[in-house]
Amino acid sequence: MLAAVMLERPRRNRASKWIRALARETELSADHLVWPVFVQEGPDSESPILSMPGISRYGIRTLVERVKEAFALGVRAVALFPKIDDSLKDPRGSVGTEPNNLLCMATRALKEALPELVVITDVALDPYSSDGHDGVVIEGRIDNDVTLPILAEMAVVQSRAGADIVAPSDMMDGRVQCIREALDSEGFTQVGICSYAVKYASAFYGPFRDALDSAPRGGDKKTYQMNPANVREALREAQLDVDEGADWLMVKPGLPYLDVIRAVREATTLPVAAYHVSGEFSMLKAAAERGMLDYDACLLESLLCMRRAGADIIFTYGAVDAARLLRQQR
Ligand code: PBG
Repeated sequence: MLAAVMLERPRRNRASKWIRALARETELSADHLVWPVFVQEGPDSESPILSMPGISRYGIRTLVERVKEAFALGVRAVALFPKIDDSLKDPRGSVGTEPNNLLCMATRALKEALPELVVITDVALDPYSSDGHDGVVIEGRIDNDVTLPILAEMAVVQSRAGADIVAPSDMMDGRVQCIREALDSEGFTQVGICSYAVKYASAFYGPFRDALDSAPRGGDKKTYQMNPANVREALREAQLDVDEGADWLMVKPGLPYLDVIRAVREATTLPVAAYHVSGEFSMLKAAAERGMLDYDACLLESLLCMRRAGADIIFTYGAVDAARLLRQQR
């Protein structure tokens, strides 16, 4: 027997496409997406990354072409990561502070081709380090304070090359302030800092380390990246980076850490970024390749869920795919 009255019928707000659109709480648009890209030597080269289906490392000229296409589709920001030849790596990641290194050259080329493009450069030692760690390794330990001036110098050379935002992904203590002071003293007061404030020691970074051949040669990153078990610590890390002058706070990875994104969102007035990392992306691709799920739909849903959790900005390897799909949906 049907209940005589049912006052609450939530389905009424889902009755048609346009009613659903009116009642929608969260928007997803390409405006909020950052496309992480890998750059390599050999200006016209392209090397597919086996553990990241559909993603390649590009030489600078190829990269500029791909990014122009992305820009035309509505992706107006890239995060640049360089693949450095092993022969150039050393314990201090010296190449990272050279003004004409691959990352700086790519930054210049991109800003020249697309002045409005937002170029975000990675600040950490691992792509350049023979130890594969984000800081300098001294007697088996990652030395925080020896690393700080190197990070600051990296940020300065990247800014000189035209970076709009520098993004320390290293998790050394005190680096945001150190970078802010260095940038200001060199006159780069307008260059922003996207701090990887809340970065976990995650197994989901595996494919990224394949892409850059940057896996730690010894040990792991647990003495600087956070324990996945912790969320109060995330608030502490976030607050410190606010106090040190960060402009954006990042939580990384994304989808397995939605509670952390929410917690950081509620604790700060700064923009919060989420990084949909390589492993999250590759899981979708691998399952789709085996016919187990729909990559397009799962990608958009993943990004939407990070927005719902409180992310303003999302770094995703699927940025271009998402921008194309979002266009088709309009
Ligand atoms: C290293 C860095 C990593 C990522 C971005 N910067 C890997 C790591 O910390 O080992 C991971 C990105 C991804 O997995 O997509 N500074």
